[in-house]
Amino acid sequence: MAVVKRMEDRAYWPVIMFSSLNLFLWHLDAFKKGEDPVPLFVDAFDRTTRFLESTLTSGVSGGHFPPVGAAAVDEGRFEKQVSGMFSDIWVGMSDDIYFDQSYKFTQERLEKSGADPVALFKGKVVVDAGCGSGKFSAAIARFGAKKVIGLDIGEKGLEFARLQAAKVPYGSAIEYRNASLLDIPLPAGSVDMVWSNGVIHHTVGYERCVKEFSRVLKPGGTLFLYVNGRFGLLELLTTTLRLATEVVPPTLFQHFIALLGVDSGRLYWIQDFLYAPYEYKPAADIKAMLGRHGFGDLRQLMRGVASDQIEQVSAGLPFAVVKYGEAQLKYLATKQ
Ligand SMILES: C[S@@+](CC[C@H](N)C(=O)[O-])C[C@H]1O[C@@H](n2cnc3c(N)ncnc32)[C@H](O)[C@@H]1O
Repeated sequence: MAVVKRMEDRAYWPVIMFSSLNLFLWHLDAFKKGEDPVPLFVDAFDRTTRFLESTLTSGVSGGHFPPVGAAAVDEGRFEKQVSGMFSDIWVGMSDDIYFDQSYKFTQERLEKSGADPVALFKGKVVVDAGCGSGKFSAAIARFGAKKVIGLDIGEKGLEFARLQAAKVPYGSAIEYRNASLLDIPLPAGSVDMVWSNGVIHHTVGYERCVKEFSRVLKPGGTLFLYVNGRFGLLELLTTTLRLATEVVPPTLFQHFIALLGVDSGRLYWIQDFLYAPYEYKPAADIKAMLGRHGFGDLRQLMRGVASDQIEQVSAGLPFAVVKYGEAQLKYLATKQ
């Protein structure tokens, strides 16, 4: 959206927020239908661009506000922003979703893809790399892991995770630590499994994380890696919207979304897809990267719960590939 690049003035922020939110919510509804999303998609972009252009030409600009300069990439600052953004989302999750849904979903996703969760986790020392709220750390402990080490850079999420762990008997097997995956504070060859669910595409060091996972795993240990693949309309939409919204402060956009009464599930997706930094890599690159860092026996998990993009693609639902492309890429791999 080149037009947005001409809207860095603060006076345009509400316009950008409105059009971005609109496009995002529109796609959620449009993607639910079994119709070809391409014409609808093109039309929504056209309408949004016309709206933004007309706003520019009508002279909304305040002019007296200083322009917002692009921030230089600073690793520490980047991590602080990412962790702050995610940390607030978790608190308030119901116990049903936290304990039961995450356990059942993990079981269904793995079993349908031909993997046995008990065999994977029982008696193992597992790192939940980028654990967020800790809901998957809890599920892994419930499957019988000997020890789960949940690592994340979001302190509020970790505090919430510790309170949650105290509610269940298997919680005593979980330990949470504030640490970055770019530099994992564990000795080489010290764990049986690394579980990383939807995390490394949000970091500044995609490959550095994989290198760290390889370092901390014992030979013969297992990596579960979930990252987002490429080539769907959803990628096009979110990449464009991230460009558009980067000039608007995240907290302002969050308040704006909340003010409009958007429900918390959608708020989470808006946060994740639009505000979290995202690096999309194609499956071929990920496989090559895993090979470079000593992983073999690569197995892609092609199934999931009904709402998972990969399940829709695997089930051959109409236009699922157009919408999601490679969808969620989930792999099990063995450290050689
Ligand atoms: C989309 S959430 C996924 C959380 C969890 N794995 C789940 O599936 O519920 C991404 C998480 O990655 C964490 N994260 C991002 N960069 C990180 C880094 N460099 N080190 C550790 N955690 C990081 C964020 O704080 C956030 O909790």
